[in-house]
Amino acid sequence: MNLNHLPLFLLFLVPLVHSQVCQRFCGDIPLRYPFGGGPGCGDPRFTKHVTCNQRQLSFITHTGSYPVTNIDYNKQVLYVSDPTMSTCFCTQPSKGFSLDWDAPFSFDDSSVFALLDCSLDSSPIYKGAINGNTSNVPQCDNAGTPLCSSLYSCQPISQLNVPINTCCVYAPMDLGPAFEMDLQKAQCKAYTAIYSFEDQEANPEVWKYGVALKYKFNVKNDYPVYCSNCEKSNGACAYTGIYNTFVCNCPSGVNTSTDCYFQNSWNSGLRNAPWIKGTLIFYSIVLLLLSISL
Ligand SMILES: *[C@@H]1O[C@H](CO)[C@@H](O)[C@H](O)[C@H]1NC(C)=O
Ligand SMILES: *[C@@H]1O[C@H](CO)[C@@H](O)[C@H](O)[C@H]1NC(C)=O
Repeated sequence: MNLNHLPLFLLFLVPLVHSQVCQRFCGDIPLRYPFGGGPGCGDPRFTKHVTCNQRQLSFITHTGSYPVTNIDYNKQVLYVSDPTMSTCFCTQPSKGFSLDWDAPFSFDDSSVFALLDCSLDSSPIYKGAINGNTSNVPQCDNAGTPLCSSLYSCQPISQLNVPINTCCVYAPMDLGPAFEMDLQKAQCKAYTAIYSFEDQEANPEVWKYGVALKYKFNVKNDYPVYCSNCEKSNGACAYTGIYNTFVCNCPSGVNTSTDCYFQNSWNSGLRNAPWIKGTLIFYSIVLLLLSISL
């Protein structure tokens, strides 16, 4: 054998030894680019905001950690629930919900908030409480009154015993970008968030409660071509290291710089003939010993 090929041969063997596989699911939620569930997987800009811990995918901001209930990869929308949020079925105190200004997320157009149990003398509720702007601009959307009437048909909400005109509807879509919903500043004790009325605006029992968040891959929102090829071959996209290098993490734990098609045929070949793996390891040890003794 030609020993000049040794380094190349060893390089080939290294992936067989290491095998960390990026998670393809967190609980029931499929993980795809840009989400990887943990360090070294997916896009690192998303790692600290969306992490998988004990089969629970969480969305993390400076105000708390919120369970992710679903991800719509086509619409690029992440759905989260807030355990302190009120719904048609229960009311509870909350401090609000805020996004980190430097995170690649914004409220989706489908998100609507209703601030509940607000102090009578705080209305109109000022913009400062919602987007951090301290100018005294009323933030409540008067056109949202039908939504408040619907909410007041829910027993727990009507039992709050505050007049309906203190209910404040806030739709990011209509009122411009915002990321801060500080209920204490707004002097409201509770809120609810709705991302779908299920075509039944008068029936709050069927609405979908939670916050819908839009994410972007990058400024131009391009899905990296490398990444889609990798995912088509059943790999998981990862950007790692200080240079943010692309790697395609294959189901076997092997990383490639392209996709897993080659890797798959290589592995199924190995699975059918386990002796090849043994033989390869045997030869590499022999070669290693040879190269040391030379
Ligand atoms: C393969 O990629 C994963 C995910 O980035 C990483 O954790 C693992 O260390 C890599 N393995 C090798 C052998 O480079
Ligand atoms: C705050 O709101 C006022 C009035 O809408 C606007 O002119 C100003 O630019 C805003 N400031 C910030 C920091 O968003």
